[in-house]
Amino acid sequence: MLPEANAGRSSLSGGYAVTQQLDRAAGGEPPAAIRTELLERRYGRRLALRGLSLLVPRGSVFGFLGPNGAGKTTAVKLLLGLVRATGGEGMVLGRPLGDPAARRRIGYLPELFRYQEWLTGREVLLSHAALAGVAKVERSEAAERALATVGLAEHGQRRVGTFSKGMQQRLGLAVALLGEPELVVLDEPTSALDPVGRHDVRGIIHALKDRGATVFLNSHLLTEVEAVCDEVAVLDHGQVVAQGRLDHLLEARGVDVEVEGLEVEDIERLGGRFSPPRDASFPQLDHRDVPALVQKIVAMGGRVHAVTPRRASLEQRFLDWLEVP
Ligand SMILES: Nc1ncnc2c1ncn2[C@@H]1O[C@H](COP(=O)(O)OP(=O)(O)OP(=O)(O)O)[C@@H](O)[C@H]1O
Ligand SMILES: [Mg+2]
Repeated sequence: MLPEANAGRSSLSGGYAVTQQLDRAAGGEPPAAIRTELLERRYGRRLALRGLSLLVPRGSVFGFLGPNGAGKTTAVKLLLGLVRATGGEGMVLGRPLGDPAARRRIGYLPELFRYQEWLTGREVLLSHAALAGVAKVERSEAAERALATVGLAEHGQRRVGTFSKGMQQRLGLAVALLGEPELVVLDEPTSALDPVGRHDVRGIIHALKDRGATVFLNSHLLTEVEAVCDEVAVLDHGQVVAQGRLDHLLEARGVDVEVEGLEVEDIERLGGRFSPPRDASFPQLDHRDVPALVQKIVAMGGRVHAVTPRRASLEQRFLDWLEVP
């Protein structure tokens, strides 16, 4: 707990004093790239984000998941200082939210963006390289490198207005990579990309991780999240419903039982869910409790044909967390 952070002040009011308090609160742990405590954002009467407490370790690839309207983009905008929190605290790269020095070390691909249509792809990158503080003599090379990384090497001279949706997204990604940022925040980086583009983005994220950068990724594409993320947080209605290391969260849990001779109520009494014609699922069951479960089913007059341990995919876990039947 961070007592100072819970006092309900605006995230910026505490300035550097709060920064130091939050740093001390981290104790001997490796520094966090992002740390928030009870971060909140209201839009009028709507609470878009309620009490978001996150810890994103440096060097990790962090997946931020949740259904449409859950508050993911709102959280990203708060982290970057693009909107102000109406409650709670946070730090990014060791500085208060929105701190200009920290922002220079962050690459950001926004969810909805449009670059000036009359500029060429290269010109967009050159202007953003200047904004990112890349030295003048290095900008041209940085722009070329970014174009090549996102597969636009052939298209740098074309005007953005002639780009396809996927090409615009690639350009946005190139902008986010300029200046070797320590933290790269990607809000739905692959929503417009073809399968090859998605594969490329996976490679880009791995390369970022290899050079020690932290990646914060908003995505609905759970197979991609599963492939690249070390940690995830799942947001629903502005609140975190699951958070942790992906390998821990996906640890096999629960069994599906093919069974005959039980009523729906019997299965529910055992803590399971019935799915016709004769499957019962016990999503919370610890595998050590399988023999006891089978014994109970038999005692109730059921005949067990098969017991299959669940290997949870992220998609299945996601639906469980959101309590989708
Ligand atoms: N500028 C705004 N004014 C009013 N309400 C807003 C504003 N921006 C977001 N909201 C509301 O805040 C909630 C969270 O929106 P947000 O864009 O953060 O969701 P999201 O998780 O990014 O969704 P998606 O998956 O669709 O991108 C929604 O209810 C949305 O309507
Ligand atoms: Mg969003």
